[in-house]
Amino acid sequence: MNVVDVLLGEHGAMYSQFDCVERVVPGLDGLQEIRALGALLAAVVQSHSTVEDELLFAALERPLGRASPALVGMRMMHEDIDRGFAELERAEDPGAARDALLGVVGLARQHFLGEEESLFVTARRVLDDETLGRLGAAWAERRGVLQNPIEDWTSAPHGA
Ligand SMILES: [Fe+2]
Ligand SMILES: [Fe+2]
Repeated sequence: MNVVDVLLGEHGAMYSQFDCVERVVPGLDGLQEIRALGALLAAVVQSHSTVEDELLFAALERPLGRASPALVGMRMMHEDIDRGFAELERAEDPGAARDALLGVVGLARQHFLGEEESLFVTARRVLDDETLGRLGAAWAERRGVLQNPIEDWTSAPHGA
Protein backbone atom coordinates (compact mmCIF):
# COMPACT_ATOMS: atom_id res chain seq x y z
CA MET A 1 0.00 0.00 0.00
CA ASN A 2 1.62 3.19 -1.25
CA VAL A 3 1.44 6.05 1.29
CA VAL A 4 0.87 8.67 -1.43
CA ASP A 5 -2.14 6.72 -2.73
CA VAL A 6 -3.73 6.48 0.72
CA LEU A 7 -3.15 10.17 1.48
CA LEU A 8 -4.78 11.01 -1.86
CA GLY A 9 -7.72 8.84 -0.83
CA GLU A 10 -8.05 10.86 2.37
CA HIS A 11 -8.09 14.08 0.30
CA GLY A 12 -10.87 12.62 -1.85
CA ALA A 13 -13.03 11.77 1.17
CA MET A 14 -12.43 15.22 2.67
CA TYR A 15 -13.45 16.95 -0.59
CA SER A 16 -16.93 15.50 -0.01
CA GLN A 17 -16.92 16.96 3.50
CA PHE A 18 -15.73 20.34 2.19
CA ASP A 19 -18.58 20.33 -0.36
CA CYS A 20 -21.05 19.59 2.44
CA VAL A 21 -19.70 22.35 4.72
CA GLU A 22 -19.77 24.91 1.88
CA ARG A 23 -23.37 23.96 1.07
CA VAL A 24 -24.71 23.88 4.63
CA VAL A 25 -22.78 26.49 6.63
CA PRO A 26 -24.07 29.64 4.87
CA GLY A 27 -27.59 28.72 6.07
CA LEU A 28 -26.65 28.08 9.71
CA ASP A 29 -27.32 30.73 12.36
CA GLY A 30 -26.38 28.86 15.52
CA LEU A 31 -22.86 29.42 16.84
CA GLN A 32 -22.78 26.01 18.53
CA GLU A 33 -23.84 24.09 15.43
CA ILE A 34 -21.26 25.87 13.26
CA ARG A 35 -18.60 25.11 15.86
CA ALA A 36 -19.72 21.46 16.05
CA LEU A 37 -19.41 21.06 12.27
CA GLY A 38 -16.01 22.71 12.45
CA ALA A 39 -14.89 20.35 15.21
CA LEU A 40 -15.86 17.33 13.11
CA LEU A 41 -13.91 18.69 10.15
CA ALA A 42 -10.93 19.63 12.32
CA ALA A 43 -10.72 16.05 13.65
CA VAL A 44 -10.19 14.62 10.18
CA VAL A 45 -8.17 17.45 8.61
CA GLN A 46 -5.76 17.78 11.53
CA SER A 47 -5.23 14.04 11.92
CA HIS A 48 -4.49 13.95 8.17
CA SER A 49 -1.92 16.76 8.57
CA THR A 50 -0.26 14.97 11.49
CA VAL A 51 0.02 11.57 9.82
CA GLU A 52 1.19 13.17 6.56
CA ASP A 53 3.79 15.28 8.36
CA GLU A 54 5.15 12.51 10.58
CA LEU A 55 5.29 9.86 7.84
CA LEU A 56 5.63 11.37 4.36
CA PHE A 57 7.19 14.77 5.10
CA ALA A 58 9.63 13.22 7.57
CA ALA A 59 10.73 10.68 4.93
CA LEU A 60 11.19 13.48 2.39
CA GLU A 61 13.59 15.37 4.66
CA ARG A 62 16.49 13.13 3.65
CA PRO A 63 16.22 13.44 -0.16
CA LEU A 64 14.93 17.04 -0.22
CA GLY A 65 16.63 18.51 2.86
CA ARG A 66 14.87 19.64 6.00
CA ALA A 67 14.91 23.27 4.82
CA SER A 68 13.45 22.42 1.41
CA PRO A 69 11.06 25.22 0.39
CA ALA A 70 8.49 22.62 -0.65
CA LEU A 71 8.48 20.97 2.80
CA VAL A 72 8.67 24.23 4.73
CA GLY A 73 5.83 25.67 2.65
CA MET A 74 3.55 22.67 3.17
CA ARG A 75 4.24 22.62 6.92
CA MET A 76 3.44 26.35 7.10
CA MET A 77 0.13 25.65 5.39
CA HIS A 78 -0.66 22.99 8.02
CA GLU A 79 -0.05 25.67 10.67
CA ASP A 80 -2.25 28.16 8.79
CA ILE A 81 -5.04 25.57 8.73
CA ASP A 82 -4.58 24.94 12.47
CA ARG A 83 -4.83 28.70 13.08
CA GLY A 84 -8.06 28.78 11.06
CA PHE A 85 -9.62 26.11 13.28
CA ALA A 86 -8.41 27.97 16.39
CA GLU A 87 -10.05 31.14 15.05
CA LEU A 88 -13.30 29.21 14.66
CA GLU A 89 -13.10 28.06 18.30
CA ARG A 90 -12.64 31.69 19.40
CA ALA A 91 -15.48 33.05 17.26
CA GLU A 92 -18.13 34.67 19.41
CA ASP A 93 -20.87 35.18 16.85
CA PRO A 94 -22.28 33.06 14.01
CA GLY A 95 -21.00 35.39 11.27
CA ALA A 96 -17.41 35.20 12.48
CA ALA A 97 -17.74 31.42 12.91
CA ARG A 98 -19.11 30.96 9.38
CA ASP A 99 -16.28 33.09 7.94
CA ALA A 100 -13.65 31.17 9.91
CA LEU A 101 -14.99 27.74 8.89
CA LEU A 102 -15.44 28.61 5.21
CA GLY A 103 -12.01 30.26 5.26
CA VAL A 104 -10.31 27.16 6.62
CA VAL A 105 -12.06 25.00 4.00
CA GLY A 106 -10.70 27.32 1.29
CA LEU A 107 -7.20 27.08 2.75
CA ALA A 108 -7.38 23.30 2.97
CA ARG A 109 -8.57 23.02 -0.65
CA GLN A 110 -5.66 25.21 -1.80
CA HIS A 111 -3.21 23.18 0.27
CA PHE A 112 -4.47 19.80 -0.93
CA LEU A 113 -4.24 20.95 -4.55
CA GLY A 114 -0.65 22.08 -3.95
CA GLU A 115 0.26 18.67 -2.55
CA GLU A 116 -1.43 16.84 -5.40
CA GLU A 117 0.18 18.99 -8.10
CA SER A 118 3.63 19.15 -6.60
CA LEU A 119 4.79 17.48 -3.38
CA PHE A 120 3.07 14.13 -3.94
CA VAL A 121 4.50 14.02 -7.48
CA THR A 122 7.96 14.71 -6.03
CA ALA A 123 7.46 12.02 -3.37
CA ARG A 124 6.74 9.36 -5.99
CA ARG A 125 9.90 10.43 -7.84
CA VAL A 126 12.38 10.62 -4.96
CA LEU A 127 11.18 7.80 -2.66
CA ASP A 128 11.52 4.19 -3.78
CA ASP A 129 8.62 1.72 -3.85
CA GLU A 130 9.84 -0.11 -0.75
CA THR A 131 9.84 3.13 1.27
CA LEU A 132 6.43 4.22 -0.06
CA GLY A 133 5.03 0.79 0.88
CA ARG A 134 6.61 0.78 4.35
CA LEU A 135 5.13 4.22 5.00
CA GLY A 136 1.76 2.95 3.74
CA ALA A 137 1.91 0.11 6.28
CA ALA A 138 2.72 2.63 9.03
CA TRP A 139 -0.25 4.71 7.86
CA ALA A 140 -2.57 1.65 8.14
CA GLU A 141 -1.38 1.00 11.67
CA ARG A 142 -1.87 4.65 12.68
CA ARG A 143 -5.35 4.72 11.15
CA GLY A 144 -6.35 1.39 12.70
CA VAL A 145 -7.25 -0.30 9.41
CA LEU A 146 -6.34 -3.86 8.46
CA GLN A 147 -3.81 -4.14 5.67
CA ASN A 148 -4.07 -7.25 3.47
CA PRO A 149 -6.02 -9.37 6.00
CA ILE A 150 -6.76 -12.07 3.36
CA GLU A 151 -3.10 -12.36 2.43
CA ASP A 152 -2.21 -12.65 6.13
CA TRP A 153 -4.85 -15.35 6.59
CA THR A 154 -3.76 -17.44 3.59
CA SER A 155 -0.12 -17.24 4.62
CA ALA A 156 -0.87 -18.35 8.20
CA PRO A 157 0.24 -21.92 9.05
CA HIS A 158 -2.50 -24.59 8.75
CA GLY A 159 -4.46 -25.00 11.94
CA ALA A 160 -3.31 -21.60 13.21
FE1 LIG B 1 -0.96 18.51 4.02
FE1 LIG C 1 -2.64 16.17 2.40
